Amino acid sequence: MELTVKPFGGALGASVSGLDFRDPITPERKTELNAAWMEHLILVFPDQPLTDEEHVKATHAFGEPEVFHQNIIKSSRVPEIFRVSNVDDNDQIMEPKHPTMQQLGSARKWHTDSSYRPNPAMGSLLHGIEISRTGGQTCFINMYAVYDAMPESLKAKVEGKRARHDFEMLSRIAAARKPTDEERASMPAVWQPMVRVHPVTGRKSLYISPIYNDGIEGMEDDAAMTLFQELTDFAEQEQFVYRHTWSPHDMLLWDNRCTMHLVTPHDPTERRVMHRTTIVGDGPPIAA
Ligand code: OGA
Ligand code: MN
Repeated sequence: MELTVKPFGGALGASVSGLDFRDPITPERKTELNAAWMEHLILVFPDQPLTDEEHVKATHAFGEPEVFHQNIIKSSRVPEIFRVSNVDDNDQIMEPKHPTMQQLGSARKWHTDSSYRPNPAMGSLLHGIEISRTGGQTCFINMYAVYDAMPESLKAKVEGKRARHDFEMLSRIAAARKPTDEERASMPAVWQPMVRVHPVTGRKSLYISPIYNDGIEGMEDDAAMTLFQELTDFAEQEQFVYRHTWSPHDMLLWDNRCTMHLVTPHDPTERRVMHRTTIVGDGPPIAA
């Protein structure tokens, strides 16, 4: 079958048809898929009713699936599956105040996945199993385009600088439970370049992840937080954004190295079941 790649025509994103992730993926097809991914930053694959095992297998077309460091969100059945879901492992809907819901709630703010790791995830592949009809859109920003469009005065504030990314920030902003001592020890804060070079495309992008950022090298904390807000306000302008309205069994692939994302609010009493695999990073971010 021919692969058909249809760009959405905006800042980023394309839909891909002509493939069924349940079929074996040839090396040529992998090359084609990765080229489309690098060009469009996010790819939507409609109509992929995969099991979790098939989802993990499909992830190998793009890289190695990662096993998340916290048990609360990890599937108890398939360890590579991260449950972005308001339904627990026993299929019961969770109250908004449940610690897992508090933590997932942080995804309502712009971020890029696992930027708090020395080697952050390269990409994520999210499967919409039971989608929300009352919001729950996933929105993406093209951070190459943001960097390119930044006025020189704003570029000067980030050029050559590093930002602090700390997993523990979640518990400060989202009322998620505090990490355990063990989690904290396994996940010390990291300093990441604020302008990075993509290892495949060679393009520069702004690299921030506001739900985890709590400092900038050489700046007072208050000034740093103000700058993160200024950068976020600049980045979230409509011309840099794609909003995905889910259909059941969409698979959505994004590149964490050059995009940010968030989910829009949704009715917490309505089931939303999304399973994610995360693709192991290809090395620490390269400073521009
Ligand atoms: C994620 C995430 C957004 C969503 O899976 O990393 O931020 O739409 N999810 O649930
Ligand atoms: Mn995320």
